[in-house]
This record gives sequence, C-alpha cells and structure tokens, in this order.
Amino acid sequence: MKTQITELFGIEHPIIQGGMHFVGLAELASAVSNAGGLGIITGLTQGTPEKLAAEIARCQEMTDKPFGVNMTFLPALRPPDYPGLFKVIIDSGVKVVETAGNNPAQWMPMLKDAGIKVIHKCTAVRHALKAERIGCDAVSVDGFECGGHPGEDDIPNFILLPRAGEELKIPFVASGGMADGRSLVAALALGADGINMGTRFIATQEAPVHANVKQALVDASELDTRLIMRGLRNTERVLNNAGVERLVEKEKALGASIKIEDILPEVAGIYPRVMKDGDISAGAWSCGMVAGLIHDVPTVKELIDRIMSEAEAIITRRLAGMQSA
Ligand SMILES: Cc1cc2nc3c(=O)[nH]c(=O)nc-3n(C[C@H](O)[C@H](O)[C@H](O)COP(=O)(O)O)c2cc1C
Repeated sequence: MKTQITELFGIEHPIIQGGMHFVGLAELASAVSNAGGLGIITGLTQGTPEKLAAEIARCQEMTDKPFGVNMTFLPALRPPDYPGLFKVIIDSGVKVVETAGNNPAQWMPMLKDAGIKVIHKCTAVRHALKAERIGCDAVSVDGFECGGHPGEDDIPNFILLPRAGEELKIPFVASGGMADGRSLVAALALGADGINMGTRFIATQEAPVHANVKQALVDASELDTRLIMRGLRNTERVLNNAGVERLVEKEKALGASIKIEDILPEVAGIYPRVMKDGDISAGAWSCGMVAGLIHDVPTVKELIDRIMSEAEAIITRRLAGMQSA
C-alpha cells in the first residue's frame, strides 16, 4: 500500500509502532521495521545518551530498514539529559524521531539540519496545527481510546481524525484503538494516511516483555482500562489492577488536594517490575481500550501481514462489493 506516510518514511506498510516505555527496545523496533512498518525505540527508557547510543546500535545490527526514536516530554521528577539524547540520535544516523508530550519546537532546527523526519504525537487538533507550524513532517493523532496519555479533551478518534483532516496540510496517522485491518481501513476512510499502534504490539512474540503482560492483554476486555491522574492534569489510561485500584481510592479520598507524592508508590518505578519481572499488579502501566480486540500473541510479521491482507479484503471485496451492488 502506498500512502503519504509510506512515502515520507520509506516503508512498505503504513503502520507505525509508537514509543512505549520499557517495551520499545531494539527487539520490537527491529521486528516492526523488518516486517515493513516503522519501529520506534523509546529514548527515555534508556535514560542516558550512552545507553541510547548502544540501543540504537543494537537495532541497527538487527535491521537495515528505517526505524525511529521516541522522545517524550512529560513532567518528570528528574528531567532527562535531552540535549545529550538528541545529540546521540543525530550522531547515530537515525532518520525519524517521534516526539510526544510538549511540542518539540526547541529541537526542530537541529533535527531538520540533520535531515531527520519528525512525527509529533498529539491529542488535539490545536496541538497538531502547532506541530505543523513549527515544521513537523507528520503527526500521530492520539484519540481518547489510546493507551498512555490521551490529554484532557476526551475526543475519540471518530471525531478527532476527521477534524484533523479538515485542518491539517501535513499527513497524519491514526493512533489509539488501532488493532487490525478494520482499524486501518477506517483510519484511511477518516482521512489518515496510516496507523500507529501501541498496546497491540505489546502482545507479539518479539515484544521484549514478560509473558504475564502479553497474557494480561489477551485476557483484558475493552472495559478493563482506567483513567488516572486527571486531577494532576496528566491523565493516563492504564490497565486496571490492584495497584491502580489503590491509586483510584486515593484520588477519590484526596480530591483536588492530591499531589504526585501521594501516588508515587503506584506510579514510580513500576515499568521494570511489570515489563521485566511480570508483576502486572505492581501499579499503573499504560494500556489502551484496544485490549478488547487482542485475542492472540502472533509474531510481528504475522500481525502486520494479517492487518494488510484484512485491509485489502475489506477494500476490494466488502466495500467494492457494496458499491457494485
Ligand atoms: C505500555 C505503554 C507505554 C507507553 N509509553 C509511551 C512513551 O513512553 N512515550 C510515548 O510517547 N507514548 C507512549 N505510549 C503511547 C503509545 O506510543 C501509543 O501512542 C498508544 O499506545 C496508542 O494507543 P493504543 O495503545 O490504543 O494503540 C505508551 C503506550 C503503552 C501501551
């Protein structure tokens, strides 16, 4: 399939793997890129420029296809060494950066000088327009369904994507709730030029996470996510578990007076315990409503090939058949 996104990034299929803390390592990113999509290494998981350089080098050994690095700008107790991380990305010859959180204006000149394509992930049309204005090449439009941080506007993709299409000149991918060929065709119909998937890619053979995490996604339904940290204006969609229930109880009890310190036991240092050790109830970890559409743990190639063949069947048989009827 050829879209503005496949042309922009030099990939075969219009499918991107969004950055994911403690999931977006070289194993997954290279598997996605080798299968014809765009894999993304998550910069902040590595934390230091030295470790990020080593992870990029590992990914370069595993694939000769394009892949990207995610750089997330969110409130942090200890801000990472962003200048050092960006320097490593540029020096390593990475050609795509996915940014998220605050807009990347301050980094755009150095990324553009290095010939790097920038795709900014955002949850509102006004943020997408800002990304376009500051020179981003594309945006990833993250609807309310998404795993991770859906923002504070709560606009689902059936509205958000066509609204983005009405306003944007640069191409965009649909993110949040994307799982299969149906999602891809719907996203294209709503004006996107591809899809970005997070949660669905965790339940794959190559995702370098504990088997308990993959099983939790297969077991979960679309009813099993919770929104947390709304009171802190840092809303996150996570998979419900005992740790999250504790956190939600604190939010109810403390109301508007809640501070990040109150919920540190449920949000700080949770990712390695979940993703590496398989302690899936340790606390809050991002997960999309799309968990309800995850029923198996295929290889990345099986998943991407299946999405593309389903999409083709929907377009050439189901939709074309309706039109000729
Ligand atoms: C476990 C997990 C960790 C994530 N970590 C990050 C992150 O560090 N930075 C980021 O920009 N997005 C992160 N995301 C969001 C994804 O990149 C993607 O935008 C989102 O998962 C799309 O929604 P979906 O899960 O419905 O596919 C994360 C998502 C998940 C599920």
